[in-house]
Amino acid sequence: MPDADFAIHPVSPTLGAEIRGLALSRPLGPATVSALAQALDRHLVLVFRDQALSDADLVRVSRHFGPLDKAPITENGRLHAPGYEEVYVISNITENGRPIGALGAGESVWHADMTYLETPPYASGLYALEIPAEGGDTGFLSMFAAYDALPDALKRRVEGLSIKHDSTTNSGGCLRQGFAPPTDVATSPGTVHPLVIAHPTTGARALLLGRRPHAHIPGLSVAESEALLDEIWEAAVRPELAWHHRWRVGDLVMWDNRWTMHRRDPFPNGQRRLMHRTQIAMPVARRLTGAA
Ligand code: SIN
Repeated sequence: MPDADFAIHPVSPTLGAEIRGLALSRPLGPATVSALAQALDRHLVLVFRDQALSDADLVRVSRHFGPLDKAPITENGRLHAPGYEEVYVISNITENGRPIGALGAGESVWHADMTYLETPPYASGLYALEIPAEGGDTGFLSMFAAYDALPDALKRRVEGLSIKHDSTTNSGGCLRQGFAPPTDVATSPGTVHPLVIAHPTTGARALLLGRRPHAHIPGLSVAESEALLDEIWEAAVRPELAWHHRWRVGDLVMWDNRWTMHRRDPFPNGQRRLMHRTQIAMPVARRLTGAA
């Protein structure tokens, strides 16, 4: 009997699918794992509702997609779940006057995770333990759809360009520990990637934008780079291309970090939000390469 027995329900025309019929707290067989990896490749974002996962379960499920990174250093230090260095805590909760997690209750702007590294993570999993009554939704955008949305003249202009991904500031607008506020985006710290990347098997093109603040296109003056980046973001990051997840406790959402961006709505700081996140390292075979 095949062990992959679940249903896939797409949630939007551009990306995302809900996986129904799987209890992730139980061990997953090889056929299920392979079918889930294919579903993530195809739909870019997978939603599993009504799960009851311990941190050990979250780590086990995430490891089926690849080796895990340790929790990153945040504006509040390296905040991981007790006993699990791979489980990054995203929360506005404070205990004994200290934040237990990162990103607070504010908006987190459109971004892909840690593209300021040479090799950013391949995927992430975000599991909801406590959610606010209002706000805190997470939006996702397909970067294939974002590229396709560019007018042809803009597609021609961005071909062959690179983009520097800022390493100083996180998606909540906070400085990472050890960095100074950037004063000149042309020289501030970051990593340069191709602006247009291509899927290794289909050849489909996607934009690799990282995040807007403090980005720079090498070879252009700051004024030219700002103007072109604004034009790209306006054409590509359109509300009608995005899909927003309204969280319930027990949801696990996994996304492919190469071909998507995400953002989070703010929520009232008096309400608690507690999410545990894992980050799957980029396998060599999936590394980002520029479009040919
Ligand atoms: C993130 O940007 O990884 C967190 C998103 C969220 O808190 O919903």
